[in-house]
Amino acid sequence: MKRRESLLKDPALCKINALQGPGDGCGRRMTYNAPMPASDVLDSVLKAADETLRTLFAPARSARSPDLPPDTPLSEAEKRHAAGLMRVNHAGEIAAQALYRGQAAMSRSSMTREFLQRAASEDGDHLAWCESRLRELGSAPSRLNPLWYLGSYLIGAAAAALGDELSLGFVTETERQVEGHLASHLERLPAGDQRSRRIVELMKSDEAAHAQAARAAGAAELPGPIPFLMRHAARIMTSTAYWL
Ligand SMILES: [Fe+2]
Ligand SMILES: [Fe+2]
Repeated sequence: MKRRESLLKDPALCKINALQGPGDGCGRRMTYNAPMPASDVLDSVLKAADETLRTLFAPARSARSPDLPPDTPLSEAEKRHAAGLMRVNHAGEIAAQALYRGQAAMSRSSMTREFLQRAASEDGDHLAWCESRLRELGSAPSRLNPLWYLGSYLIGAAAAALGDELSLGFVTETERQVEGHLASHLERLPAGDQRSRRIVELMKSDEAAHAQAARAAGAAELPGPIPFLMRHAARIMTSTAYWL
């Protein structure tokens, strides 16, 4: 809860809101920073490479320790099914890290960039929870994670190229779709797997807060075909990551 408030009440968000125009409710348009010098670009590239390698190959760390129910015995079929669903969720969190970072890399305002970097860091908890639950279920993350990461990074960067307001709209839509997706997992997870269910419930509640924070930061509504394409791309990932 404390971390959720950090996004919703971040002073940087207040500054973003203060820079918005009457079309967005306040009177001025968002102000963008000047282009980065070449040395800063190199720093950013090295930092992005470091973050990518850590996300894909180092154990994820959680800043929060959720209060989870104890593990209960599951049949082999239930374990396999729960692991498939938690692998999908883990792949989704890998994709979320990449989307946010791709968007941050291309964002025009430093405040939007900070918002996205912080969102990525808060979603890092979900990555750690899914990873550790997968281990408990005797399974492993998707072997295609590097592919999900690369594809999502490029999609995030492309979304950010449309401007900060649409980029934040992309965050809102992503979180809305992820929330719906997690709700479907709550129906599909084995009834006895209370531990996985609790993790999914916590994630779902966080994603709703992330969507709300992006709206508060000035997210614009996305044009019609984009949410449709996003749903289609997500379906490819979720149906593959269940097995691989
Ligand atoms: Fe998440
Ligand atoms: Fe999120």
